[in-house]
This record gives sequence, structure tokens and C-alpha cells, in this order.
Amino acid sequence: MDVSPPLGLLAELTHRCPLHCPYCSNPLELASRESELSTADWFSVLSQARELGVLQVHLSGGEPLARPDLPQLVAHASGLGCYVNLVTSGLGLTRPRLEDLVERGLAHVQLSAQGATRERADLLAGARAFDHKLAAAALVKESGLPLTLNVVLHRRNHDQLAEIIALAERMGADRLELANTQYYGWALRNRDALMPTRAQLAAAEPIVRAAIARLRGKMEIVYVVADYYEPYPKPCMHGWGARQLTVAPDGTVLPCPAASAISTLRLSSVREASLSDIWYRSESFTAYRGEDWMREPCRTCDRRGRDFGGCRCQAFLLTGDAAATDPVCSRSPHRDVVDLILTAPGTPDLVMRR
Ligand code: SF4
Ligand code: FES
Repeated sequence: MDVSPPLGLLAELTHRCPLHCPYCSNPLELASRESELSTADWFSVLSQARELGVLQVHLSGGEPLARPDLPQLVAHASGLGCYVNLVTSGLGLTRPRLEDLVERGLAHVQLSAQGATRERADLLAGARAFDHKLAAAALVKESGLPLTLNVVLHRRNHDQLAEIIALAERMGADRLELANTQYYGWALRNRDALMPTRAQLAAAEPIVRAAIARLRGKMEIVYVVADYYEPYPKPCMHGWGARQLTVAPDGTVLPCPAASAISTLRLSSVREASLSDIWYRSESFTAYRGEDWMREPCRTCDRRGRDFGGCRCQAFLLTGDAAATDPVCSRSPHRDVVDLILTAPGTPDLVMRR
């Protein structure tokens, strides 16, 4: 099959993070500081990514501001001609640091928020974070960079949806991503506590629809649905190994950010192979690319070109088989697994990210 080059690189510079969000999708086992790629390693990864065709670089984590070499990495990526996005909690973003990053070519900031009020947001972040986020948003707007606010939605903050939209407006966000929690990594431990109710999702829909209409041309709103409640799965990653690659802090290259959850998948590292080899030829990137790997019911399904059989990580986590149809799909023989999860009472306490 013809394989297109990747468009985006998610560079997870570190797993270190000042927050303790219970919906964290990073793996249970985080990469240690000692195992992190060096500055020179990241220069090489960024250069190789650009050579491969990557145009968008998302510097993420954990908290990328925890890396003292962040300014050099921004300069290197922007010097290669890449559009550089900083994905941050905002903690540690001071005026001098932001001015320096802008000077070096930073093009966009994506800021996370956990709730609409200080009390709720700090509770869900497990840290005093809310005021830092307001300050960070103000700095980004002052710098003239475009700002995206990303809020992960779940049972413990769905009731604040209208206020969250108002918060994004107050911050002057150009884009608001309202993403219902995806259950990978740490978030999976908290699934029953985080799963929104059907009533919460029904209440959210008109609020989001009205906001999209009211704010058209001023603030773009993206709403990522709660897929467990849907009849068909999400087109995860727009297909496996199709558009984007992720490099984890220790150099492991992932076809999707959650792919380390698939314990049957042999992952490659930038320490042992080139990005090009990994993208085009590695076992992990070719495993579920295209349609050859599909079994029934996906193999002959009229929707397979639209959703690519759903999410491989979810298929593995819920059935133990990464080549299974995503069990969210109403045509999957395993849909009962998802239906059973939706009947869970949803009362357990949240386990904060450690
Ligand atoms: Fe998508 Fe497979 Fe379900 Fe068809 S059977 S809708 S391709 S997940
Ligand atoms: Fe890994 Fe969907 S999260 S394929």
C-alpha cells in the first residue's frame, strides 16, 4: 500500500508534571527523568521528523516547561520550518520565558484547564493551578500568539460546561477543545468515577450547539464525544500510522500516544532506528495500517473507510486483542463489554495521578 508521510509529531519531552489529573492518559509507568532523551537526541528527532515531512510539532509532556532546554528545542523546530505548538498546564510560564519562546519561533499555545472555578479546577488538578492558568492565558494573549484551551470533560465537571465555555471566552481563547475523557493510561483506573452519565451528555449537547452558533467566527469550539455512548467508534488517529507519530520521553516511537498499552506490540525507539525506518517499516507502525489486518465485521463493513475499525488501544484494553473491532461499535461481538461498563454505579473516589 502507498504510505503517506506523517504531518505531525507529538514530542513528549518529559513525563514530569506539576499536576495530578485523575484523567491523565499517560501510561501507568512513567518514563523517569534519567531515561529522557538528551537535547542532542531531540535535535536529531526533530530534524529527522522534518525530513520525513512533518510540518507540525507539538511539544508536550507531562509539562514541557519542566525541560530547561525547551527554548533550544523550539528554536530548532521552528528553524526547520515547522509550526511549533506548546501543550502546557501553564504552570511555570512566566513573561520572560514566554517572550523568549516567542522570539525563538513558538507559534501556538495549548493550555489545559480542569474546571471553571478555582475550587473545582484545583481539586481536579490536585494542585493550586487555576490562578496560574488565568495568568498564563493572559500572557499568551498579550504575546499575540493564538491560544487553544483544552478541557477534558467527565462526570466531575460536566455540570460546569457553560461556565467552562464562559471561561474560555474570558481568556480570549481562539479555540476551545471540549474533550470527553478517553480511557487510556491512568484514566482507565478512574473509568467508573469519570464516566459521564447519559443525562449529563444530553444536557451538554444543546449547550455546546448554542455556543458554537453564538461564537462562530470568534472562537472555534471542538467537542469530542464520549465514545462509549456512541453506536460507532471514533476514527482514532485518522487510522493507525496514517498522519502523526509520537515520540515518548525515553525515545520510544508510538503510532498513537496510548499505544504502549498494547503489550503485544513491539515498539521501536529512536535510539536504535531512524524515524523513517520506524514510520515506513517497523512492526508497530505497519501492524494495523490500512485494512489488511481487519477481521469481520470490519473487513466487509461499509464504514471501515470512515472509522478504520475504531481504536486499537481500546480494542486491546477491553478485549485483549488489538486487532478486534473496537467494542464501542454496535456491530462488534464485544459491545456487551461496553454496555456493562455503562451500568457501573460511578461512585468510586478519584485516584489522583501519582
Ligand atoms: Fe467501524 Fe468495524 Fe464497526 Fe464497521 S464494524 S462500524 S468498520 S468498527
Ligand atoms: Fe491508540 Fe486509539 S488511542 S489507536
